[in-house]
Amino acid sequence: MSLRLTVIGAGTMGAGIAQVAAIHGFSTTLCDLSADQLSTAMSSISSSVEKGIDRGKTPPEARDLVAQGLSTETDLSKACADADVVIEAVPEDIDLKNKIFKTVESVVSSHAVIASNTSSIPISKLASSLSAPERFIGMHFFNPVPVMSLVEIIRGEKTSESVIDSIVKLARDMAKEPIVVRDSPGFATSRLGLVIGLEAIRMLEDGVASAEEIDKAMELGYRHPMGPLKLTDLVGLDVRLAIAEVLHEEIGEQFRPPQLLRDMVSRGDLGKKSGRGFHDWSV
Ligand SMILES: NC(=O)c1ccc[n+]([C@@H]2O[C@H](COP(=O)([O-])OP(=O)(O)OC[C@H]3O[C@@H](n4cnc5c(N)ncnc54)[C@H](O)[C@@H]3O)[C@@H](O)[C@H]2O)c1
Repeated sequence: MSLRLTVIGAGTMGAGIAQVAAIHGFSTTLCDLSADQLSTAMSSISSSVEKGIDRGKTPPEARDLVAQGLSTETDLSKACADADVVIEAVPEDIDLKNKIFKTVESVVSSHAVIASNTSSIPISKLASSLSAPERFIGMHFFNPVPVMSLVEIIRGEKTSESVIDSIVKLARDMAKEPIVVRDSPGFATSRLGLVIGLEAIRMLEDGVASAEEIDKAMELGYRHPMGPLKLTDLVGLDVRLAIAEVLHEEIGEQFRPPQLLRDMVSRGDLGKKSGRGFHDWSV
């Protein structure tokens, strides 16, 4: 029997993860505190599926798989009660995540795996709030989830081998390419990606070049598919700031968030999702 999945948090990442899970035949519950956010997520999933079908990248059956296999729930306990795998994708805040894991652990069955989509918080730190840390693992997807093939799987100090095997299999069954990495702040991806992203912001602060030129430098000079400032706009400036704060505390000065990033987040210039970041997304 196919696994039942619950995805907690219906924002940028949770909506994408739920979409890919449902399209690959998993019965999926998407959970968020906010009913409005759930309905926004369902509309964006349905328009993303339609776009995929129009472009010939998604089979037409995906429409029915989403309609039949994807449901929503605002009550965390109800959402997780029947799950075989719970994937958490709420904001990058250790206290919030730990509070959620405590509730999840109190309602799921003993065989259920609990995974976090955290970009930077050490998995063993999150697992330490659980009474069964061996069932806890990092399952880090990339944005936009339906397009990006990588899933970074993070082995916590106490994660069991059988849990690692089952999440590697789940990633493959969702048509993703998994890598398994040791637990360390920022893992393999965010740690490297943030170095470039934060330095690009500091270069903008120093007036080295415009946002367009800095992005073009990496796109044309280094064959990056997208420049670091455009990528920061896509990820969300608030999300990148939260990751930088974790890595600054865990690793050191090279991850200190630039003042410009803080100022833009406090102004509400969060990137693509707010219509303005380092670039204008309003048109
Ligand atoms: N945005 C990216 O590109 C990206 C990429 C990889 C990983 N991540 C990680 O994924 C996680 C989520 O990021 P995002 O960009 O999707 O954030 P987001 O802000 O877009 O979405 C978070 C969602 O969680 C919901 N939420 C908050 N508290 C909740 C609760 N108690 N119960 C249920 N739902 C709750 C919010 O209503 C919101 O809809 C973070 O840990 C982030 O670091 C983000």
